[in-house]
Amino acid sequence: MKSIRLATAALAAIALTSPLALVAAAAEVPTSGDLSAGHAKKDTLRWVAPKGFYIGTAAAGGGHHESQPYPDPFTKDLEYRKVLAAEFSSVAAENQMKWEYIHPEQGRYNFGMADAIVDFARKNNQAVRGHTLLWHSQNPQWVEQGDFTPDELREILREHITTVVSRYKGDIQQWDVANEIFDDSGRLRTTDNIWIRELGPGIVADAFRWAHEADPKAKLFFNDYNVEGVNPKSNAYYTLIQDLLAQDVPVHGFSAQSHLSTRYGFPGDLETNLNRFADLGLETAITELDVRMDLPADGVPTAEMLAKQADYYQRTLSACLNVEGCNSFTIWGFTDKYSWVPVFFSGQGAATVMWNDFSRKPAYHALQCTLAKEAVERGEKHPHLPKCA
Ligand code: XIL
Repeated sequence: MKSIRLATAALAAIALTSPLALVAAAAEVPTSGDLSAGHAKKDTLRWVAPKGFYIGTAAAGGGHHESQPYPDPFTKDLEYRKVLAAEFSSVAAENQMKWEYIHPEQGRYNFGMADAIVDFARKNNQAVRGHTLLWHSQNPQWVEQGDFTPDELREILREHITTVVSRYKGDIQQWDVANEIFDDSGRLRTTDNIWIRELGPGIVADAFRWAHEADPKAKLFFNDYNVEGVNPKSNAYYTLIQDLLAQDVPVHGFSAQSHLSTRYGFPGDLETNLNRFADLGLETAITELDVRMDLPADGVPTAEMLAKQADYYQRTLSACLNVEGCNSFTIWGFTDKYSWVPVFFSGQGAATVMWNDFSRKPAYHALQCTLAKEAVERGEKHPHLPKCA
Protein backbone atom coordinates (compact mmCIF):
# COMPACT_ATOMS: atom_id res chain seq x y z
CA MET A 1 0.00 0.00 0.00
CA LYS A 2 2.75 2.37 1.06
CA SER A 3 4.77 1.74 -2.08
CA ILE A 4 1.71 2.30 -4.27
CA ARG A 5 1.13 5.68 -2.67
CA LEU A 6 4.77 6.57 -3.15
CA ALA A 7 4.63 5.54 -6.76
CA THR A 8 1.55 7.68 -7.32
CA ALA A 9 3.23 10.67 -5.72
CA ALA A 10 6.28 10.16 -7.90
CA LEU A 11 4.10 9.98 -11.01
CA ALA A 12 2.27 13.13 -10.03
CA ALA A 13 5.58 14.89 -9.55
CA ILE A 14 6.77 13.78 -12.97
CA ALA A 15 3.51 14.86 -14.61
CA LEU A 16 4.06 18.35 -13.24
CA THR A 17 7.66 18.56 -14.30
CA SER A 18 8.85 20.32 -17.45
CA PRO A 19 9.85 18.40 -20.58
CA LEU A 20 13.43 19.47 -19.89
CA ALA A 21 13.33 18.00 -16.41
CA LEU A 22 11.64 14.87 -17.79
CA VAL A 23 14.44 14.26 -20.23
CA ALA A 24 16.86 14.99 -17.43
CA ALA A 25 15.06 12.51 -15.18
CA ALA A 26 15.33 9.87 -17.88
CA ALA A 27 19.05 10.51 -18.00
CA GLU A 28 19.12 10.14 -14.20
CA VAL A 29 20.03 13.74 -13.60
CA PRO A 30 19.05 14.75 -10.07
CA THR A 31 16.59 17.53 -10.87
CA SER A 32 14.91 16.79 -7.53
CA GLY A 33 11.50 16.84 -9.16
CA ASP A 34 10.02 18.78 -6.25
CA LEU A 35 7.87 21.79 -6.95
CA SER A 36 7.97 25.06 -5.09
CA ALA A 37 4.22 25.38 -5.24
CA GLY A 38 3.98 22.23 -3.15
CA HIS A 39 6.68 23.16 -0.68
CA ALA A 40 6.03 23.74 2.95
CA LYS A 41 6.01 27.40 3.86
CA LYS A 42 9.19 27.06 5.86
CA ASP A 43 11.11 25.21 3.17
CA THR A 44 12.42 28.30 1.42
CA LEU A 45 15.66 30.26 1.13
CA ARG A 46 14.50 33.26 3.10
CA TRP A 47 13.12 31.13 5.91
CA VAL A 48 16.37 29.27 6.56
CA ALA A 49 18.69 32.27 6.06
CA PRO A 50 20.44 33.78 9.08
CA LYS A 51 18.75 36.87 10.52
CA GLY A 52 19.83 40.09 8.86
CA PHE A 53 21.13 38.27 5.79
CA TYR A 54 19.21 39.26 2.64
CA ILE A 55 18.73 36.60 0.03
CA GLY A 56 17.55 38.26 -3.14
CA THR A 57 16.74 37.90 -6.81
CA ALA A 58 16.21 40.15 -9.79
CA ALA A 59 12.51 40.70 -10.56
CA ALA A 60 12.15 39.69 -14.22
CA GLY A 61 10.86 42.28 -16.67
CA GLY A 62 11.91 44.72 -19.39
CA GLY A 63 15.20 44.27 -21.28
CA HIS A 64 15.51 40.95 -23.09
CA HIS A 65 12.09 39.82 -21.88
CA GLU A 66 10.44 42.23 -24.27
CA SER A 67 11.68 40.23 -27.25
CA GLN A 68 10.55 36.90 -25.82
CA PRO A 69 7.28 35.11 -26.56
CA TYR A 70 5.82 35.45 -23.08
CA PRO A 71 4.05 38.20 -21.16
CA ASP A 72 5.90 40.32 -18.62
CA PRO A 73 7.02 37.83 -15.95
CA PHE A 74 6.87 40.03 -12.88
CA THR A 75 3.34 41.33 -13.46
CA LYS A 76 1.74 38.40 -15.31
CA ASP A 77 3.14 35.10 -14.09
CA LEU A 78 1.30 34.26 -10.89
CA GLU A 79 3.33 31.20 -10.02
CA TYR A 80 6.48 33.24 -10.57
CA ARG A 81 5.22 35.89 -8.16
CA LYS A 82 4.34 33.28 -5.59
CA VAL A 83 7.84 31.81 -5.63
CA LEU A 84 9.39 35.30 -5.68
CA ALA A 85 7.51 36.23 -2.50
CA ALA A 86 8.05 32.92 -0.75
CA GLU A 87 11.75 32.43 -1.39
CA PHE A 88 13.37 35.87 -1.22
CA SER A 89 13.85 38.62 1.35
CA SER A 90 15.23 41.09 -1.21
CA VAL A 91 14.38 42.01 -4.80
CA ALA A 92 16.26 43.98 -7.43
CA ALA A 93 14.83 45.60 -10.53
CA GLU A 94 16.30 43.64 -13.44
CA ASN A 95 15.62 46.49 -15.90
CA GLN A 96 12.74 48.50 -14.53
CA MET A 97 14.84 51.21 -12.86
CA LYS A 98 17.35 51.59 -15.68
CA TRP A 99 17.43 54.87 -17.56
CA GLU A 100 15.85 53.63 -20.80
CA TYR A 101 13.00 52.14 -18.84
CA ILE A 102 12.26 54.69 -16.16
CA HIS A 103 13.14 57.85 -18.13
CA PRO A 104 12.33 57.00 -21.77
CA GLU A 105 11.87 60.56 -22.99
CA GLN A 106 13.19 63.91 -21.88
CA GLY A 107 10.86 65.24 -19.20
CA ARG A 108 8.83 61.99 -18.98
CA TYR A 109 9.32 59.32 -16.37
CA ASN A 110 7.77 55.88 -16.41
CA PHE A 111 7.58 54.79 -12.79
CA GLY A 112 4.86 52.16 -13.17
CA MET A 113 6.97 49.01 -13.10
CA ALA A 114 9.46 50.26 -10.53
CA ASP A 115 6.57 51.31 -8.27
CA ALA A 116 5.03 47.85 -8.69
CA ILE A 117 8.26 46.19 -7.57
CA VAL A 118 8.61 48.46 -4.55
CA ASP A 119 4.94 47.84 -3.59
CA PHE A 120 5.34 44.10 -3.98
CA ALA A 121 8.43 44.18 -1.80
CA ARG A 122 6.68 46.20 0.88
CA LYS A 123 3.73 43.78 0.96
CA ASN A 124 6.05 40.80 1.17
CA ASN A 125 8.44 42.28 3.67
CA GLN A 126 11.34 42.39 1.24
CA ALA A 127 14.24 44.81 0.87
CA VAL A 128 14.85 46.40 -2.53
CA ARG A 129 18.11 46.91 -4.41
CA GLY A 130 18.00 49.86 -6.80
CA HIS A 131 19.74 49.34 -10.13
CA THR A 132 21.17 51.63 -11.57
CA LEU A 133 21.89 55.39 -11.93
CA LEU A 134 25.10 55.91 -13.90
CA TRP A 135 25.93 53.31 -16.55
CA HIS A 136 27.19 53.16 -20.12
CA SER A 137 24.44 50.79 -21.23
CA GLN A 138 20.64 50.86 -21.58
CA ASN A 139 20.50 54.63 -21.75
CA PRO A 140 17.65 56.09 -23.84
CA GLN A 141 18.26 57.46 -27.32
CA TRP A 142 17.42 60.98 -26.19
CA VAL A 143 20.39 60.90 -23.82
CA GLU A 144 22.90 59.05 -26.03
CA GLN A 145 22.01 60.95 -29.22
CA GLY A 146 21.09 64.26 -27.62
CA ASP A 147 23.13 67.29 -28.53
CA PHE A 148 23.60 68.60 -25.00
CA THR A 149 26.26 70.89 -23.63
CA PRO A 150 28.23 69.52 -20.66
CA ASP A 151 26.27 71.79 -18.32
CA GLU A 152 22.96 70.53 -19.67
CA LEU A 153 24.04 66.90 -19.45
CA ARG A 154 25.23 67.36 -15.90
CA GLU A 155 21.87 68.88 -14.97
CA ILE A 156 20.07 66.00 -16.70
CA LEU A 157 21.97 63.48 -14.59
CA ARG A 158 21.51 65.45 -11.37
CA GLU A 159 17.79 65.83 -11.95
CA HIS A 160 17.40 62.14 -12.81
CA ILE A 161 19.28 60.88 -9.75
CA THR A 162 17.46 63.28 -7.46
CA THR A 163 14.05 62.40 -8.86
CA VAL A 164 14.45 58.63 -8.90
CA VAL A 165 16.25 58.28 -5.56
CA SER A 166 13.80 60.66 -3.82
CA ARG A 167 10.80 58.77 -5.15
CA TYR A 168 11.95 55.59 -3.43
CA LYS A 169 13.47 57.25 -0.40
CA GLY A 170 13.26 54.89 2.56
CA ASP A 171 12.35 51.94 0.32
CA ILE A 172 15.72 51.14 -1.20
CA GLN A 173 18.28 49.39 0.95
CA GLN A 174 21.16 49.59 -1.54
CA TRP A 175 21.56 51.58 -4.75
CA ASP A 176 23.96 50.59 -7.49
CA VAL A 177 24.87 54.21 -8.10
CA ALA A 178 27.67 53.51 -10.57
CA ASN A 179 27.59 50.38 -12.69
CA GLU A 180 30.50 48.98 -14.69
CA ILE A 181 32.57 52.16 -14.92
CA PHE A 182 35.86 50.31 -15.55
CA ASP A 183 36.78 47.93 -18.35
CA ASP A 184 38.49 44.62 -17.66
CA SER A 185 41.96 46.12 -17.72
CA GLY A 186 40.96 48.63 -15.05
CA ARG A 187 40.64 51.67 -17.32
CA LEU A 188 37.76 54.04 -16.78
CA ARG A 189 35.22 53.79 -19.60
CA THR A 190 35.99 57.17 -21.05
CA THR A 191 34.56 56.37 -24.48
CA ASP A 192 31.42 54.28 -24.08
CA ASN A 193 30.21 55.85 -20.80
CA ILE A 194 28.57 59.09 -21.92
CA TRP A 195 28.67 60.64 -18.45
CA ILE A 196 32.38 60.08 -17.93
CA ARG A 197 33.21 60.93 -21.54
CA GLU A 198 31.34 64.22 -21.58
CA LEU A 199 31.67 65.28 -17.96
CA GLY A 200 34.97 63.77 -16.79
CA PRO A 201 35.67 61.23 -14.02
CA GLY A 202 34.60 63.68 -11.28
CA ILE A 203 30.97 63.07 -12.26
CA VAL A 204 31.11 59.72 -10.46
CA ALA A 205 31.64 61.40 -7.07
CA ASP A 206 28.83 63.84 -7.85
CA ALA A 207 26.46 60.97 -8.62
CA PHE A 208 27.13 59.53 -5.15
CA ARG A 209 26.67 62.96 -3.53
CA TRP A 210 23.34 63.58 -5.29
CA ALA A 211 22.05 60.11 -4.42
CA HIS A 212 23.06 60.56 -0.79
CA GLU A 213 21.34 63.90 -0.57
CA ALA A 214 18.13 62.38 -1.93
CA ASP A 215 18.12 59.38 0.42
CA PRO A 216 20.68 59.62 3.21
CA LYS A 217 19.85 56.13 4.53
CA ALA A 218 20.31 54.20 1.31
CA LYS A 219 23.66 52.42 1.01
CA LEU A 220 25.43 53.54 -2.14
CA PHE A 221 27.39 51.01 -4.17
CA PHE A 222 29.85 50.53 -6.98
CA ASN A 223 28.79 47.43 -8.91
CA ASP A 224 30.58 45.51 -11.67
CA TYR A 225 31.23 42.12 -13.31
CA ASN A 226 34.59 40.36 -13.40
CA VAL A 227 35.50 41.91 -10.06
CA GLU A 228 35.03 38.76 -8.02
CA GLY A 229 38.75 38.12 -7.71
CA VAL A 230 41.74 40.37 -7.15
CA ASN A 231 42.54 41.61 -10.67
CA PRO A 232 43.24 44.87 -12.54
CA LYS A 233 39.56 45.81 -12.56
CA SER A 234 38.90 45.22 -8.85
CA ASN A 235 42.24 46.92 -8.11
CA ALA A 236 41.00 49.99 -9.98
CA TYR A 237 37.90 50.06 -7.76
CA TYR A 238 40.02 49.59 -4.67
CA THR A 239 42.17 52.60 -5.56
CA LEU A 240 39.27 54.80 -6.65
CA ILE A 241 37.18 54.04 -3.56
CA GLN A 242 40.08 54.82 -1.22
CA ASP A 243 40.43 58.11 -3.01
CA LEU A 244 36.74 58.95 -2.77
CA LEU A 245 36.54 58.00 0.91
CA ALA A 246 39.49 60.28 1.61
CA GLN A 247 37.42 63.10 0.08
CA ASP A 248 34.36 62.12 2.16
CA VAL A 249 32.34 61.09 -0.86
CA PRO A 250 29.41 59.00 0.43
CA VAL A 251 30.40 55.58 -0.92
CA HIS A 252 29.12 52.72 1.23
CA GLY A 253 29.54 49.56 -0.74
CA PHE A 254 31.29 47.51 -3.36
CA SER A 255 29.50 44.67 -5.09
CA ALA A 256 30.50 41.85 -7.37
CA GLN A 257 27.81 40.98 -9.90
CA SER A 258 29.15 37.42 -10.22
CA HIS A 259 27.94 36.33 -13.64
CA LEU A 260 29.97 33.14 -13.54
CA SER A 261 30.47 30.37 -16.04
CA THR A 262 31.56 26.79 -15.44
CA ARG A 263 33.76 27.30 -18.51
CA TYR A 264 36.17 29.15 -16.24
CA GLY A 265 37.58 28.22 -12.87
CA PHE A 266 35.85 29.50 -9.76
CA PRO A 267 37.34 32.82 -8.55
CA GLY A 268 38.83 31.33 -5.41
CA ASP A 269 40.02 34.71 -4.12
CA LEU A 270 36.48 36.13 -3.91
CA GLU A 271 36.51 36.17 -0.12
CA THR A 272 39.97 37.77 0.01
CA ASN A 273 38.84 40.40 -2.44
CA LEU A 274 35.61 41.24 -0.60
CA ASN A 275 37.55 41.38 2.65
CA ARG A 276 39.88 44.10 1.44
CA PHE A 277 36.86 46.28 0.63
CA ALA A 278 35.33 45.41 4.01
CA ASP A 279 38.59 46.57 5.57
CA LEU A 280 37.98 49.99 4.04
CA GLY A 281 34.80 50.09 6.12
CA LEU A 282 32.51 49.24 3.22
CA GLU A 283 29.59 46.88 2.91
CA THR A 284 29.97 44.31 0.19
CA ALA A 285 27.36 42.33 -1.72
CA ILE A 286 26.85 39.72 -4.39
CA THR A 287 24.33 41.29 -6.72
CA GLU A 288 23.73 39.31 -9.90
CA LEU A 289 24.89 35.76 -9.41
CA ASP A 290 24.20 33.20 -12.08
CA VAL A 291 26.31 30.28 -13.23
CA ARG A 292 25.95 29.50 -16.91
CA MET A 293 27.21 26.44 -18.70
CA ASP A 294 27.86 25.24 -22.22
CA LEU A 295 24.86 23.10 -23.01
CA PRO A 296 25.28 19.70 -24.65
CA ALA A 297 23.67 19.15 -28.07
CA ASP A 298 20.42 17.90 -26.50
CA GLY A 299 20.25 21.00 -24.31
CA VAL A 300 20.19 18.95 -21.13
CA PRO A 301 22.93 19.48 -18.54
CA THR A 302 24.55 16.36 -17.14
CA ALA A 303 24.62 15.51 -13.44
CA GLU A 304 28.28 16.53 -13.34
CA MET A 305 27.49 19.92 -14.85
CA LEU A 306 24.74 20.52 -12.32
CA ALA A 307 27.02 19.48 -9.48
CA LYS A 308 29.72 21.88 -10.66
CA GLN A 309 27.18 24.66 -10.93
CA ALA A 310 25.89 23.93 -7.42
CA ASP A 311 29.46 24.11 -6.16
CA TYR A 312 29.95 27.58 -7.72
CA TYR A 313 26.72 28.85 -6.17
CA GLN A 314 27.67 27.43 -2.80
CA ARG A 315 31.19 28.86 -2.84
CA THR A 316 29.96 32.31 -3.80
CA LEU A 317 27.46 32.27 -0.96
CA SER A 318 30.01 30.96 1.56
CA ALA A 319 32.49 33.67 0.61
CA CYS A 320 29.86 36.35 1.25
CA LEU A 321 28.73 34.76 4.52
CA ASN A 322 32.33 34.73 5.71
CA VAL A 323 32.86 38.44 5.12
CA GLU A 324 31.79 40.97 7.72
CA GLY A 325 29.28 43.36 6.15
CA CYS A 326 28.37 41.12 3.21
CA ASN A 327 24.68 40.88 4.06
CA SER A 328 23.04 40.99 0.67
CA PHE A 329 23.24 38.12 -1.78
CA THR A 330 21.23 38.41 -4.98
CA ILE A 331 20.84 35.90 -7.78
CA TRP A 332 20.07 37.22 -11.27
CA GLY A 333 16.74 35.46 -11.65
CA PHE A 334 15.74 32.17 -10.05
CA THR A 335 14.24 30.21 -12.93
CA ASP A 336 15.71 29.28 -16.31
CA LYS A 337 12.32 30.18 -17.78
CA TYR A 338 13.28 33.86 -17.72
CA SER A 339 17.07 33.93 -17.58
CA TRP A 340 18.92 36.45 -19.73
CA VAL A 341 21.75 33.95 -20.33
CA PRO A 342 20.52 32.03 -23.42
CA VAL A 343 19.63 35.35 -25.06
CA PHE A 344 23.06 36.91 -24.47
CA PHE A 345 25.42 33.90 -24.49
CA SER A 346 24.80 31.67 -27.45
CA GLY A 347 24.90 27.95 -26.65
CA GLN A 348 24.93 28.58 -22.92
CA GLY A 349 22.15 28.40 -20.39
CA ALA A 350 20.64 26.56 -17.42
CA ALA A 351 22.26 29.28 -15.32
CA THR A 352 19.73 29.67 -12.49
CA VAL A 353 18.74 27.55 -9.49
CA MET A 354 15.35 26.35 -10.75
CA TRP A 355 14.13 24.69 -13.93
CA ASN A 356 11.50 26.28 -16.13
CA ASP A 357 8.73 24.80 -13.99
CA PHE A 358 10.25 26.15 -10.76
CA SER A 359 11.43 22.75 -9.60
CA ARG A 360 14.69 23.00 -7.72
CA LYS A 361 18.13 22.15 -9.05
CA PRO A 362 21.08 20.96 -6.99
CA ALA A 363 22.23 24.60 -6.95
CA TYR A 364 19.05 25.58 -5.10
CA HIS A 365 19.68 22.95 -2.43
CA ALA A 366 23.31 24.01 -2.16
CA LEU A 367 22.20 27.57 -1.36
CA GLN A 368 19.47 26.46 1.00
CA CYS A 369 21.70 24.09 2.97
CA THR A 370 24.51 26.63 3.19
CA LEU A 371 22.13 29.27 4.55
CA ALA A 372 20.60 26.84 7.04
CA LYS A 373 23.98 25.67 8.30
CA GLU A 374 25.15 29.22 8.74
CA ALA A 375 22.01 30.06 10.73
CA VAL A 376 22.73 27.10 13.01
CA GLU A 377 26.36 28.18 13.38
CA ARG A 378 25.16 31.61 14.40
CA GLY A 379 23.05 29.89 17.04
CA GLU A 380 19.74 30.83 15.49
CA LYS A 381 17.61 27.84 14.59
CA HIS A 382 17.67 24.35 13.30
CA PRO A 383 15.44 24.04 10.28
CA HIS A 384 14.64 20.48 9.33
CA LEU A 385 16.08 20.06 5.85
CA PRO A 386 16.21 16.45 4.81
CA LYS A 387 18.16 17.23 1.66
CA CYS A 388 21.13 18.69 3.58
CA ALA A 389 23.85 16.20 4.40
C1 XIL B 1 20.63 42.45 -18.13
C2 XIL B 1 19.17 42.02 -18.01
O1 XIL B 1 19.10 40.81 -17.30
C3 XIL B 1 18.54 41.86 -19.38
O2 XIL B 1 17.17 41.65 -19.26
C4 XIL B 1 18.81 43.07 -20.26
O3 XIL B 1 18.32 42.82 -21.55
C5 XIL B 1 20.28 43.42 -20.30
O4 XIL B 1 20.77 43.57 -18.97
N1 XIL B 1 25.04 43.52 -15.76
C6 XIL B 1 24.06 44.31 -15.23
C7 XIL B 1 22.63 43.99 -15.47
O5 XIL B 1 24.36 45.25 -14.46
O6 XIL B 1 21.84 45.15 -15.51
C8 XIL B 1 22.46 43.20 -16.76
O7 XIL B 1 21.09 42.81 -16.85
C9 XIL B 1 23.38 42.01 -16.77
C10 XIL B 1 24.81 42.43 -16.68
